[in-house]
Amino acid sequence: MAMESQFIWLNGELIPFEKATIHILTPALHYGAAVFEGIRSYNTDKGAAVFRLTDHAERLLDSARVFGFRELPWTMDDVVKAVKQTVKANGFADCYIRPLLYLDGGGWNLNVDGGRPSLAIAVWEWKNYLGEEALARGIRANISSFTRHHPNVMMTKAKVSGNYANSFLAKTESVRLGFEEAIMLDPQGYVAECTGENLFIVRRGKIVTPSVEPVLEGVTRHVVHTIAKDLGYRVIEQPVSRDQLYNADEVFVCGTAAEVIGLREIDFRVIGGGATGPVTRQIQKVYHDAIRGRLPQYEAWCEYVDESQPLKLPMDSNISAA
Ligand SMILES: Cc1ncc(COP(=O)(O)O)c(C=O)c1O
Repeated sequence: MAMESQFIWLNGELIPFEKATIHILTPALHYGAAVFEGIRSYNTDKGAAVFRLTDHAERLLDSARVFGFRELPWTMDDVVKAVKQTVKANGFADCYIRPLLYLDGGGWNLNVDGGRPSLAIAVWEWKNYLGEEALARGIRANISSFTRHHPNVMMTKAKVSGNYANSFLAKTESVRLGFEEAIMLDPQGYVAECTGENLFIVRRGKIVTPSVEPVLEGVTRHVVHTIAKDLGYRVIEQPVSRDQLYNADEVFVCGTAAEVIGLREIDFRVIGGGATGPVTRQIQKVYHDAIRGRLPQYEAWCEYVDESQPLKLPMDSNISAA
C-alpha cells in the first residue's frame, strides 16, 4: 500500500513527508501509549468531503481522556481544521486519514503525566480496504482463539494503540488459517466485534448487533443503524452468541476502513445464501451513496474540505435496546 503524501501535519505545522520521523526512544513506540483515529475522505460532486469528521475528532479526544492525557493543547475544532488542512495541502479527495496523538517524551515511569503529547495527522490515497470481490461476494471469517478485551482491562471505547496488540494476535491467526477476518468473543463468550469492525446479524428481517459495552462504539455502526432504521428495519442491541452467527440469514461487519462487508462463511459454515445477502446489499448501497454525498438526508455527514461548502454537524441517535 502506497502511504506517501507530500505533507504530514505535526503539532500545528505541515512538514514534508520524509521529515515526519520519530526517535527510537519515543515512549509511544515502546508501550503503545498513543491514541488514534481512522477516518476517510471521499470525492463528491462538491469536492473532497471527510465522512463524519467531527465525530472522529471527538472520539480521538475522548480516547485521549480515557487513556489519561490531561490538558491537551488541541480542541476538537483544532483537530477538524487540521485534518481538512492536511487533506487539502496534499490535494487528495479519496484518502485515508490517520491522526495519532502519542506520548512523545517522558513517561518512562509509566505515568502519562510525566510525558509530552504530540499530535500527527497523516493522509494517503486509498480506495478499497478488502477489495472489490469482498464487496460482492462477502468474506470468510473465523472465531478467534483470542478473547476481546475485558472493558476493565483495556478501555474498549478508546482507540488506544496498545489495544491493537489484541487485534494483531487475532488477525494474524485468522489470515494464517486462511480466513480474511477474525470475529472476537468478549470475556463472557458473547460476540464482541472483529479486529477493526463492528458486527451485525440479520435474522427473520430483524437486525441485531452486540451491545456497546465491550466494543468500540464505531462511527460506521451508528451510520448503519441510521440507514437500516430509515429503510424500515428494526435494529436491536443485545448479546449475540456464536451459534446465532451460524444460524443467521446474513452477517455483516462495518467500519471506516472496511465500510459494509458481508460474511459469507464463518468457521467453515456457510452463512445464508453464501454471498452478500439482500439486506446487507441494500445497506451497502445506501452507505456508498451517503459517503459520496449523493443523499441529501445524509449530507450532514459529509464535511467538505473546501470551507466554502456548507459545514453541518452530524446528527446523533442511539441504537434501541431489545
Ligand atoms: C476494534 C474496532 N471496532 C470497530 C471499529 C469500527 O469503527 P469505525 O466505524 O468508527 O471506523 C474499528 C475501527 O476503527 C475498530 O478498530
